[in-house]
Amino acid sequence: THVVSENCIRCKYTDCVDVCPVDCFREGPNMLVIDPDECIDCAVCIPECPANAIYAEEDLPADQLAFIKLNAELARADGWKSITKRKAALPDADEWKDKPNKLAELVK
Ligand code: F3S
Repeated sequence: THVVSENCIRCKYTDCVDVCPVDCFREGPNMLVIDPDECIDCAVCIPECPANAIYAEEDLPADQLAFIKLNAELARADGWKSITKRKAALPDADEWKDKPNKLAELVK
């Protein structure tokens, strides 16, 4: 599967959802995740993300491995809904992009 990692948090640019052929993105308050049961590993979303937040599971940096489980859990969490159309990024996305240690900012 592919995995949305930490750099999506507080950015949520949503360019990724427009290209997904199987509608596998799920939206939370300040991050998207990929439903691992739906992702077909096509990889077309990877270059679309302005924050470079999406990785193939096997390419995830070591400090991002927790996001494998987080994507799987949040994809079926209450309130996390399918998103298939791009929308405006979070208002201060550009300020949060590439900030380290954003996991504490994740709103579930
Ligand atoms: Fe997040 Fe990048 Fe998509 S910031 S919403 S994974 S385009």
